[in-house]
Amino acid sequence: MAGVFKVVVSGLFAAILASYNEPRGAQDWATRYSELLSQSPIDDDPAVVNLPPYPAAKGVYKHNDKLQSLTKLGEGELLLPEDVQPDPTGTFLYVTNQDGWIRKYYLATAKVENWTYVGGRPLGLALDNAANLIVCEPGQNQLIQISKDTGVKTILSTEAEGVKYGLIDEVIVASDGLIYFTDGTYKYPLATWWYDLLEGKPHGRLLVYDPKTNTTSVLVKNIQFANGVALSKSEDYLLYCESTTARVIKLHLKGSNKGKSEVFINNLPGHPDNIHRNKAGDRFYLALLFNRNALYDFVFKTPVLKLLLAWDEKLYSLYDNSPSIARVLELDEEGKPLRLFEDSTGKVIAMLTTAVPSSDGRYLYVGGLRDNFVGRFSLSTD
Ligand SMILES: *[C@@H]1O[C@H](CO)[C@@H](O)[C@H](O)[C@H]1NC(C)=O
Ligand SMILES: *[C@@H]1O[C@H](CO)[C@@H](O)[C@H](O)[C@H]1NC(C)=O
Repeated sequence: MAGVFKVVVSGLFAAILASYNEPRGAQDWATRYSELLSQSPIDDDPAVVNLPPYPAAKGVYKHNDKLQSLTKLGEGELLLPEDVQPDPTGTFLYVTNQDGWIRKYYLATAKVENWTYVGGRPLGLALDNAANLIVCEPGQNQLIQISKDTGVKTILSTEAEGVKYGLIDEVIVASDGLIYFTDGTYKYPLATWWYDLLEGKPHGRLLVYDPKTNTTSVLVKNIQFANGVALSKSEDYLLYCESTTARVIKLHLKGSNKGKSEVFINNLPGHPDNIHRNKAGDRFYLALLFNRNALYDFVFKTPVLKLLLAWDEKLYSLYDNSPSIARVLELDEEGKPLRLFEDSTGKVIAMLTTAVPSSDGRYLYVGGLRDNFVGRFSLSTD
Protein backbone atom coordinates (compact mmCIF):
# COMPACT_ATOMS: atom_id res chain seq x y z
CA MET A 1 0.00 0.00 0.00
CA ALA A 2 2.64 2.50 1.12
CA GLY A 3 4.56 1.98 -2.14
CA VAL A 4 1.58 3.01 -4.22
CA PHE A 5 1.00 6.08 -2.12
CA LYS A 6 4.66 7.03 -2.29
CA VAL A 7 4.38 7.14 -6.08
CA VAL A 8 1.10 9.05 -5.99
CA VAL A 9 2.36 11.56 -3.43
CA SER A 10 5.71 12.11 -5.15
CA GLY A 11 3.91 12.62 -8.47
CA LEU A 12 1.55 15.12 -6.87
CA PHE A 13 4.35 17.15 -5.34
CA ALA A 14 6.47 17.03 -8.47
CA ALA A 15 3.54 18.40 -10.48
CA ILE A 16 2.95 21.19 -7.99
CA LEU A 17 6.61 22.09 -7.71
CA ALA A 18 6.78 22.23 -11.50
CA SER A 19 3.91 24.70 -11.53
CA TYR A 20 5.87 26.99 -9.21
CA ASN A 21 9.00 27.17 -11.30
CA GLU A 22 9.96 25.98 -14.74
CA PRO A 23 12.59 23.31 -14.32
CA ARG A 24 15.75 23.82 -16.31
CA GLY A 25 17.84 20.85 -15.25
CA ALA A 26 18.61 18.40 -12.51
CA GLN A 27 20.93 20.85 -10.76
CA ASP A 28 18.22 23.52 -10.61
CA TRP A 29 15.77 21.02 -9.29
CA ALA A 30 18.03 19.90 -6.47
CA THR A 31 18.80 23.49 -5.47
CA ARG A 32 15.19 24.52 -5.66
CA TYR A 33 14.14 21.52 -3.60
CA SER A 34 16.60 22.15 -0.78
CA GLU A 35 15.66 25.86 -0.77
CA LEU A 36 12.01 24.93 -0.38
CA LEU A 37 12.70 22.62 2.52
CA SER A 38 14.80 25.22 4.31
CA GLN A 39 11.90 27.69 3.95
CA SER A 40 9.41 25.38 5.64
CA PRO A 41 7.98 27.12 8.72
CA ILE A 42 8.22 24.04 10.96
CA ASP A 43 11.29 22.48 12.59
CA ASP A 44 13.62 21.14 9.89
CA ASP A 45 13.48 17.71 11.53
CA PRO A 46 9.78 16.96 12.09
CA ALA A 47 9.11 13.83 14.14
CA VAL A 48 8.42 10.48 12.54
CA VAL A 49 4.97 9.64 13.95
CA ASN A 50 4.43 5.93 13.47
CA LEU A 51 0.79 5.11 14.03
CA PRO A 52 -0.46 1.52 13.99
CA PRO A 53 -2.23 0.72 10.67
CA TYR A 54 -5.55 2.57 10.81
CA PRO A 55 -8.57 0.38 11.55
CA ALA A 56 -10.66 -0.93 8.66
CA ALA A 57 -14.06 0.65 7.93
CA LYS A 58 -16.02 -2.37 9.12
CA GLY A 59 -17.88 -3.45 12.24
CA VAL A 60 -18.43 -0.39 14.46
CA TYR A 61 -16.30 1.66 12.06
CA LYS A 62 -18.41 0.90 8.99
CA HIS A 63 -19.11 4.01 6.88
CA ASN A 64 -22.64 5.39 7.19
CA ASP A 65 -24.62 8.59 6.72
CA LYS A 66 -26.58 8.64 9.97
CA LEU A 67 -25.58 12.23 10.75
CA GLN A 68 -27.31 13.39 7.57
CA SER A 69 -30.64 13.09 9.43
CA LEU A 70 -29.73 15.90 11.86
CA THR A 71 -31.80 19.07 12.28
CA LYS A 72 -30.01 22.37 11.62
CA LEU A 73 -30.26 24.93 14.44
CA GLY A 74 -29.55 28.65 13.95
CA GLU A 75 -28.46 28.17 10.35
CA GLY A 76 -26.52 31.16 9.03
CA GLU A 77 -26.33 32.79 12.48
CA LEU A 78 -24.06 30.36 14.33
CA LEU A 79 -20.66 30.70 12.68
CA LEU A 80 -18.40 27.62 12.64
CA PRO A 81 -19.51 26.52 16.12
CA GLU A 82 -16.45 24.80 17.58
CA ASP A 83 -18.11 23.97 20.90
CA VAL A 84 -21.60 23.99 22.44
CA GLN A 85 -22.69 24.12 26.10
CA PRO A 86 -26.33 23.59 27.11
CA ASP A 87 -27.44 25.83 30.00
CA PRO A 88 -28.48 23.97 33.20
CA THR A 89 -32.21 24.64 32.74
CA GLY A 90 -32.35 23.30 29.17
CA THR A 91 -33.54 26.68 27.83
CA PHE A 92 -30.68 27.56 25.53
CA LEU A 93 -27.28 26.54 24.18
CA TYR A 94 -24.14 28.63 24.51
CA VAL A 95 -22.29 28.48 21.19
CA THR A 96 -18.76 29.67 20.32
CA ASN A 97 -18.45 31.47 17.02
CA GLN A 98 -15.62 32.20 14.64
CA ASP A 99 -16.20 35.98 14.84
CA GLY A 100 -15.38 36.23 18.55
CA TRP A 101 -18.97 36.11 19.82
CA ILE A 102 -20.55 33.73 22.29
CA ARG A 103 -24.14 33.34 21.09
CA LYS A 104 -27.18 31.84 22.78
CA TYR A 105 -29.53 29.63 20.81
CA TYR A 106 -32.99 29.41 22.46
CA LEU A 107 -34.36 25.91 21.98
CA ALA A 108 -38.09 26.72 22.24
CA THR A 109 -38.12 29.78 19.98
CA ALA A 110 -35.14 29.03 17.66
CA LYS A 111 -33.91 32.59 18.31
CA VAL A 112 -30.19 33.43 18.27
CA GLU A 113 -28.89 36.14 20.61
CA ASN A 114 -25.49 37.84 20.29
CA TRP A 115 -24.70 37.42 23.97
CA THR A 116 -21.08 38.37 24.73
CA TYR A 117 -18.18 39.42 22.55
CA VAL A 118 -14.93 37.93 23.80
CA GLY A 119 -12.84 38.66 20.69
CA GLY A 120 -10.31 36.36 19.08
CA ARG A 121 -11.75 32.95 18.34
CA PRO A 122 -13.41 31.35 21.35
CA LEU A 123 -13.17 27.54 21.39
CA GLY A 124 -13.98 25.25 24.36
CA LEU A 125 -16.85 26.00 26.76
CA ALA A 126 -17.91 24.69 30.17
CA LEU A 127 -20.01 25.82 33.13
CA ASP A 128 -18.57 26.42 36.58
CA ASN A 129 -20.51 25.46 39.70
CA ALA A 130 -22.30 28.82 39.83
CA ALA A 131 -23.33 28.27 36.17
CA ASN A 132 -21.01 30.99 34.88
CA LEU A 133 -19.47 30.26 31.50
CA ILE A 134 -15.79 29.30 31.24
CA VAL A 135 -14.23 29.91 27.83
CA CYS A 136 -10.91 29.00 26.18
CA GLU A 137 -9.92 31.88 23.88
CA PRO A 138 -6.76 31.13 21.89
CA GLY A 139 -6.59 34.51 20.06
CA GLN A 140 -5.32 36.17 23.24
CA ASN A 141 -4.67 32.80 24.88
CA GLN A 142 -6.79 33.35 27.94
CA LEU A 143 -8.93 31.18 30.13
CA ILE A 144 -11.95 33.42 30.76
CA GLN A 145 -14.93 33.35 33.10
CA ILE A 146 -18.08 35.14 31.92
CA SER A 147 -20.74 36.01 34.49
CA LYS A 148 -24.02 34.36 33.53
CA ASP A 149 -25.96 37.38 34.81
CA THR A 150 -23.93 40.37 33.65
CA GLY A 151 -21.78 38.98 30.81
CA VAL A 152 -18.75 40.55 32.52
CA LYS A 153 -15.46 38.85 31.67
CA THR A 154 -12.72 37.88 34.13
CA ILE A 155 -9.38 36.59 32.90
CA LEU A 156 -8.46 33.54 34.99
CA SER A 157 -5.20 32.31 33.49
CA THR A 158 -2.80 33.03 30.63
CA GLU A 159 0.28 30.93 31.49
CA ALA A 160 1.57 28.10 33.65
CA GLU A 161 5.07 27.44 34.94
CA GLY A 162 6.24 30.51 33.07
CA VAL A 163 5.05 29.25 29.66
CA LYS A 164 2.27 31.25 28.01
CA TYR A 165 -0.51 29.34 26.29
CA GLY A 166 -0.20 29.02 22.53
CA LEU A 167 -3.53 27.43 21.61
CA ILE A 168 -5.79 27.19 24.66
CA ASP A 169 -8.41 24.72 23.56
CA GLU A 170 -10.94 22.91 25.78
CA VAL A 171 -12.17 22.98 29.40
CA ILE A 172 -14.20 21.07 31.99
CA VAL A 173 -15.08 22.01 35.60
CA ALA A 174 -15.13 19.51 38.49
CA SER A 175 -17.61 19.62 41.39
CA ASP A 176 -14.86 20.91 43.72
CA GLY A 177 -14.48 23.94 41.44
CA LEU A 178 -11.17 22.93 39.83
CA ILE A 179 -11.04 23.91 36.16
CA TYR A 180 -9.24 21.41 33.92
CA PHE A 181 -8.20 22.64 30.49
CA THR A 182 -5.78 22.01 27.64
CA ASP A 183 -3.26 24.07 25.75
CA GLY A 184 -3.06 22.31 22.38
CA THR A 185 0.46 23.57 21.67
CA TYR A 186 2.51 26.37 23.19
CA LYS A 187 4.46 26.64 19.93
CA TYR A 188 2.01 27.48 17.14
CA PRO A 189 -1.03 29.78 17.12
CA LEU A 190 -4.52 28.73 16.06
CA ALA A 191 -4.09 30.07 12.50
CA THR A 192 -1.32 27.54 11.86
CA TRP A 193 -2.34 24.76 14.26
CA TRP A 194 -1.69 22.22 11.51
CA TYR A 195 2.06 23.02 11.70
CA ASP A 196 1.98 21.38 15.11
CA LEU A 197 0.21 18.32 13.73
CA LEU A 198 2.84 18.00 10.99
CA GLU A 199 5.82 18.71 13.23
CA GLY A 200 4.56 15.89 15.44
CA LYS A 201 6.40 16.97 18.60
CA PRO A 202 4.87 17.21 22.07
CA HIS A 203 4.05 20.88 22.75
CA GLY A 204 0.67 20.29 24.44
CA ARG A 205 -0.24 20.47 28.14
CA LEU A 206 -3.09 19.48 30.43
CA LEU A 207 -3.59 22.16 33.08
CA VAL A 208 -5.68 22.81 36.15
CA TYR A 209 -6.79 26.20 37.48
CA ASP A 210 -7.73 26.49 41.15
CA PRO A 211 -10.15 29.38 41.72
CA LYS A 212 -9.46 29.32 45.48
CA THR A 213 -5.82 30.24 45.00
CA ASN A 214 -5.97 31.80 41.51
CA THR A 215 -3.12 29.56 40.39
CA THR A 216 -2.63 27.20 37.46
CA SER A 217 -0.64 23.96 37.61
CA VAL A 218 0.56 21.61 34.91
CA LEU A 219 -0.88 18.11 35.28
CA VAL A 220 0.62 16.55 32.13
CA LYS A 221 3.13 17.99 29.67
CA ASN A 222 4.62 16.69 26.41
CA ILE A 223 1.25 15.92 24.84
CA GLN A 224 1.20 15.61 21.04
CA PHE A 225 -1.51 18.21 20.50
CA ALA A 226 -3.73 18.29 23.60
CA ASN A 227 -7.39 18.68 22.71
CA GLY A 228 -10.74 17.67 24.29
CA VAL A 229 -11.19 16.96 28.03
CA ALA A 230 -13.95 15.12 29.92
CA LEU A 231 -14.46 13.93 33.48
CA SER A 232 -15.96 10.61 34.53
CA LYS A 233 -19.21 10.91 36.47
CA SER A 234 -17.59 10.18 39.83
CA GLU A 235 -14.62 12.34 38.81
CA ASP A 236 -12.18 9.56 39.58
CA TYR A 237 -10.54 10.03 36.19
CA LEU A 238 -10.20 12.55 33.40
CA LEU A 239 -9.95 11.83 29.68
CA TYR A 240 -7.96 13.97 27.29
CA CYS A 241 -7.59 13.66 23.54
CA GLU A 242 -4.15 13.55 21.97
CA SER A 243 -4.95 14.57 18.40
CA THR A 244 -1.68 13.78 16.64
CA THR A 245 -1.44 10.21 17.92
CA ALA A 246 -5.18 9.48 17.32
CA ARG A 247 -5.88 8.36 20.87
CA VAL A 248 -7.56 9.27 24.15
CA ILE A 249 -5.64 9.09 27.44
CA LYS A 250 -7.15 8.39 30.86
CA LEU A 251 -5.58 10.21 33.82
CA HIS A 252 -6.52 8.91 37.29
CA LEU A 253 -7.46 11.74 39.66
CA LYS A 254 -8.26 9.65 42.75
CA GLY A 255 -7.28 6.41 44.46
CA SER A 256 -4.04 4.45 44.48
CA ASN A 257 -3.41 5.20 40.76
CA LYS A 258 -3.81 8.97 41.24
CA GLY A 259 -1.58 10.84 38.78
CA LYS A 260 -1.03 7.79 36.58
CA SER A 261 -2.10 7.67 32.94
CA GLU A 262 -3.12 4.89 30.63
CA VAL A 263 -4.48 4.66 27.09
CA PHE A 264 -8.31 4.81 27.08
CA ILE A 265 -8.64 4.11 23.35
CA ASN A 266 -5.83 3.75 20.87
CA ASN A 267 -5.64 3.78 17.07
CA LEU A 268 -8.84 5.70 16.43
CA PRO A 269 -10.09 5.83 12.82
CA GLY A 270 -9.58 9.63 12.87
CA HIS A 271 -7.75 12.35 14.78
CA PRO A 272 -9.88 13.35 17.78
CA ASP A 273 -10.98 16.86 18.74
CA ASN A 274 -13.44 17.36 21.65
CA ILE A 275 -14.92 14.71 23.94
CA HIS A 276 -18.08 15.03 26.06
CA ARG A 277 -19.78 12.74 28.59
CA ASN A 278 -23.50 12.17 28.96
CA LYS A 279 -25.28 12.98 32.23
CA ALA A 280 -25.94 9.34 33.07
CA GLY A 281 -22.16 8.87 32.99
CA ASP A 282 -22.00 5.75 30.84
CA ARG A 283 -21.19 7.23 27.41
CA PHE A 284 -18.57 9.53 25.92
CA TYR A 285 -18.93 11.22 22.52
CA LEU A 286 -15.79 11.91 20.56
CA ALA A 287 -15.66 14.16 17.49
CA LEU A 288 -13.09 13.05 14.91
CA LEU A 289 -11.96 16.09 12.95
CA PHE A 290 -9.69 14.26 10.52
CA ASN A 291 -10.36 10.94 8.93
CA ARG A 292 -7.36 8.62 8.77
CA ASN A 293 -6.26 6.83 5.62
CA ALA A 294 -3.10 5.32 4.12
CA LEU A 295 -1.94 8.68 2.70
CA TYR A 296 -2.28 10.44 6.06
CA ASP A 297 -0.53 7.68 7.97
CA PHE A 298 2.26 7.72 5.38
CA VAL A 299 2.72 11.49 5.63
CA PHE A 300 2.81 11.28 9.45
CA LYS A 301 5.92 9.11 9.27
CA THR A 302 7.60 10.90 6.33
CA PRO A 303 9.38 14.11 7.43
CA VAL A 304 10.14 15.38 3.92
CA LEU A 305 6.44 15.37 3.01
CA LYS A 306 5.61 17.17 6.26
CA LEU A 307 8.10 19.90 5.39
CA LEU A 308 6.54 20.31 1.96
CA LEU A 309 2.98 20.39 3.30
CA ALA A 310 3.88 22.98 5.93
CA TRP A 311 5.67 25.07 3.33
CA ASP A 312 2.54 25.84 1.34
CA GLU A 313 -1.05 26.06 2.47
CA LYS A 314 -2.20 25.16 -1.07
CA LEU A 315 -0.45 21.81 -0.82
CA TYR A 316 -1.89 21.25 2.62
CA SER A 317 -5.44 21.90 1.44
CA LEU A 318 -5.01 19.37 -1.37
CA TYR A 319 -3.96 16.81 1.20
CA ASP A 320 -6.55 17.64 3.87
CA ASN A 321 -9.69 15.52 3.42
CA SER A 322 -11.43 16.71 6.60
CA PRO A 323 -13.89 19.02 4.74
CA SER A 324 -15.53 15.98 3.20
CA ILE A 325 -16.41 13.93 6.27
CA ALA A 326 -18.09 14.24 9.69
CA ARG A 327 -17.65 11.60 12.37
CA VAL A 328 -18.73 11.10 15.99
CA LEU A 329 -17.71 8.01 17.93
CA GLU A 330 -19.71 6.81 20.93
CA LEU A 331 -17.63 5.08 23.63
CA ASP A 332 -18.53 3.32 26.85
CA GLU A 333 -16.76 3.85 30.20
CA GLU A 334 -14.13 1.26 29.30
CA GLY A 335 -13.22 3.06 26.06
CA LYS A 336 -14.99 0.48 23.91
CA PRO A 337 -16.37 1.98 20.68
CA LEU A 338 -20.13 1.34 20.43
CA ARG A 339 -21.48 3.33 17.51
CA LEU A 340 -20.10 5.61 14.79
CA PHE A 341 -22.32 8.41 13.48
CA GLU A 342 -21.08 9.72 10.19
CA ASP A 343 -21.76 11.93 7.21
CA SER A 344 -19.39 10.02 4.97
CA THR A 345 -19.38 12.56 2.13
CA GLY A 346 -19.89 15.78 4.09
CA LYS A 347 -23.18 16.35 2.28
CA VAL A 348 -24.90 17.90 5.32
CA ILE A 349 -22.12 18.52 7.84
CA ALA A 350 -18.33 18.09 8.04
CA MET A 351 -15.19 18.82 10.08
CA LEU A 352 -16.82 18.09 13.41
CA THR A 353 -15.05 19.36 16.49
CA THR A 354 -17.73 18.67 19.07
CA ALA A 355 -20.66 16.38 19.95
CA VAL A 356 -22.44 17.32 23.18
CA PRO A 357 -25.24 15.17 24.62
CA SER A 358 -28.43 16.93 25.75
CA SER A 359 -29.10 16.51 29.49
CA ASP A 360 -31.90 13.99 28.81
CA GLY A 361 -29.48 12.01 26.66
CA ARG A 362 -31.82 12.01 23.65
CA TYR A 363 -29.78 14.24 21.35
CA LEU A 364 -26.28 15.18 20.39
CA TYR A 365 -25.53 18.81 19.56
CA VAL A 366 -22.79 18.77 16.94
CA GLY A 367 -20.66 21.61 15.58
CA GLY A 368 -17.49 22.08 13.61
CA LEU A 369 -15.32 24.14 11.32
CA ARG A 370 -17.16 24.02 8.00
CA ASP A 371 -20.83 24.81 8.63
CA ASN A 372 -22.75 27.75 10.06
CA PHE A 373 -25.25 25.85 12.20
CA VAL A 374 -25.41 23.52 15.19
CA GLY A 375 -26.77 20.08 14.30
CA ARG A 376 -29.25 18.34 16.59
CA PHE A 377 -28.93 14.62 16.07
CA SER A 378 -31.40 12.19 17.63
CA LEU A 379 -29.62 9.28 19.34
CA SER A 380 -32.79 7.23 19.55
CA THR A 381 -33.25 6.85 15.79
CA ASP A 382 -30.32 4.47 15.65
C1 LIG B 1 -25.44 39.50 15.60
O1 LIG B 1 -24.15 39.41 15.01
C2 LIG B 1 -24.19 39.30 13.59
C3 LIG B 1 -22.76 39.12 13.12
O2 LIG B 1 -21.94 40.14 13.59
C4 LIG B 1 -24.84 40.51 12.98
O3 LIG B 1 -24.91 40.36 11.58
C5 LIG B 1 -26.25 40.64 13.55
O4 LIG B 1 -26.84 41.81 13.04
C6 LIG B 1 -26.20 40.69 15.06
N1 LIG B 1 -27.57 40.65 15.56
C7 LIG B 1 -28.04 41.57 16.37
C8 LIG B 1 -29.47 41.39 16.80
O5 LIG B 1 -27.37 42.51 16.77
C1 LIG C 1 -5.12 35.96 39.19
O1 LIG C 1 -3.77 35.92 38.78
C2 LIG C 1 -3.48 36.64 37.59
C3 LIG C 1 -2.03 36.44 37.27
O2 LIG C 1 -1.76 35.10 37.10
C4 LIG C 1 -3.81 38.10 37.78
O3 LIG C 1 -3.62 38.80 36.58
C5 LIG C 1 -5.25 38.24 38.23
O4 LIG C 1 -5.53 39.61 38.53
C6 LIG C 1 -5.53 37.39 39.47
N1 LIG C 1 -6.96 37.43 39.77
C7 LIG C 1 -7.42 37.56 40.99
C8 LIG C 1 -8.91 37.54 41.13
O5 LIG C 1 -6.68 37.70 41.95
